[in-house]
Amino acid sequence: DEKKLKQFFIGSIDQGTTSTRFIIFDGVGQPVAQHQIEFTQMYPQSGWHEHDPREILTSVEQCIEKATQSFTDQGHQISDIKAVGITNQRETTVVWDTNTGEPLHNAIAWPDTRTKGLVRELKSKDGADALHDICGLPLSTYPSSVKLIWLLKNVDGVRKAYDEGRLTFGTVDTWLLYNLNGGKERDVLVTDATNASRTMFMNLHTVQYDDKLLEFFQLDRSKLRLPEIVPSSSPESFGSLTYGPLKGIRIAGCLGDQSAALVGQQGFSPGSAKNTYGTGCFLLYNVGEKPVISTHGLLATIAYHFGGNRKPVYALEGSIAVAGSGVKFLMNNLGFITHSHKISDLAASVKDNGGCVFVTAFSGLFAPYWIDDAKGTIFGITQHTERGHIARATLEATCFQTKAILDAMELDSGHKLAELAVDGGMSNSNLCMQTQANIIGIPVDRPAMRETTSLGAAIAAGFAVDIWKEFDELKEINQKDRMIFEPNISKDESTKMFKKWGRAVEMCRGWLD
Ligand code: G3P
Repeated sequence: DEKKLKQFFIGSIDQGTTSTRFIIFDGVGQPVAQHQIEFTQMYPQSGWHEHDPREILTSVEQCIEKATQSFTDQGHQISDIKAVGITNQRETTVVWDTNTGEPLHNAIAWPDTRTKGLVRELKSKDGADALHDICGLPLSTYPSSVKLIWLLKNVDGVRKAYDEGRLTFGTVDTWLLYNLNGGKERDVLVTDATNASRTMFMNLHTVQYDDKLLEFFQLDRSKLRLPEIVPSSSPESFGSLTYGPLKGIRIAGCLGDQSAALVGQQGFSPGSAKNTYGTGCFLLYNVGEKPVISTHGLLATIAYHFGGNRKPVYALEGSIAVAGSGVKFLMNNLGFITHSHKISDLAASVKDNGGCVFVTAFSGLFAPYWIDDAKGTIFGITQHTERGHIARATLEATCFQTKAILDAMELDSGHKLAELAVDGGMSNSNLCMQTQANIIGIPVDRPAMRETTSLGAAIAAGFAVDIWKEFDELKEINQKDRMIFEPNISKDESTKMFKKWGRAVEMCRGWLD
């Protein structure tokens, strides 16, 4: 019952692209303590994007310390925290020395496009066409595989470690799990199925590494340690925290952040979907227990795998590389605003986009277009153009891509979504969510508690330690005070806007380096 559930707590590490959080939830899904830290984004060259794996780990440790402090300050007992879950930015690639546990390079972050040339070469190689059906992903700069190949080709220390058989590869979940478990001593080397499905090394149908994929990338498993793929919710696979205030507490859940958001929104039935506006924006559509390989530019991925006698559940995904990072660009690079949340006011300072369309293709364009060589381009600038117009066009760029993704999803699934559940930073903007509803022509449904990604990881962990046993038990969580944005412009008007966007996308192709 509710009173009892309020006495259990679950910690959730949310390691995102630009910030790390640790949130402690009670058994009814309410956050009771939290801490968030932004960490360094490195852009050493145009199109390059790196993170320091050590700094990522430190940010997690500090968030755990601060949030736990606030938790105990409120009079709660650490012994009532029953488990910890992890959720993380996906695809970002970390390599370390098996013998020392030390990283051999900065992590290459998921939006990085340095592999553009490499991807072009790989696409023309024999066998390239067969990959998509096996792993569900198109060959692009996005998955971990091409990032790892780049490191092997370009960083002597990484190549040498590989040749000498002491190279370990991991996505951010694996890196964190390895270190929180005490590093090389315990040597916990695992990844969950949702994260593994983003590497391009995993067969989507068997949920295991696939020799065809590894051969295509010319990777020799005797020289490279890959983490074991396990379900996202598991009492044994992820070990426990070996230091810090939560020492001894079990890590029982692990999900890529977009999967975690789907779980946090309780998108458990086939046909349910959510769109998360974080650094990027990602729409996941639950397709059930069989993967659907897209023929319209979407990704097929594992939605979640709760283990035991439950089968893995799959999703179709539309990935947009730039959402919140577009807002950060206006703030950090152009000085338009002093805080991200001020974007909404700036956008509201004008009545429409004034004819501006901003294709925010900072990492090329992802789904459903996959244009690696597109660059960010603003169309329609005149003497009339103000910052407000560009702010609006920046928000609209994500909304237009969401529309293109929904269209593709309808074609792939034969099903039209009735409404779109949303969360993530940019969903705080009422103006942006109203614009989204207008552009897609269906209602947008926003929960009151928008930390659904962290909540999803807490749910995965809570299931593993039996706080909940059936999805049905969650149905009250985060349902109160949801806000619905109904479309309020005519179909003609939205069609006209979207047509202009389509034209802009065509025109931003093939920009020369
Ligand atoms: O695939 C990248 C994604 O996992 C990053 O999510 O929320 O940090 O934009 P986010």
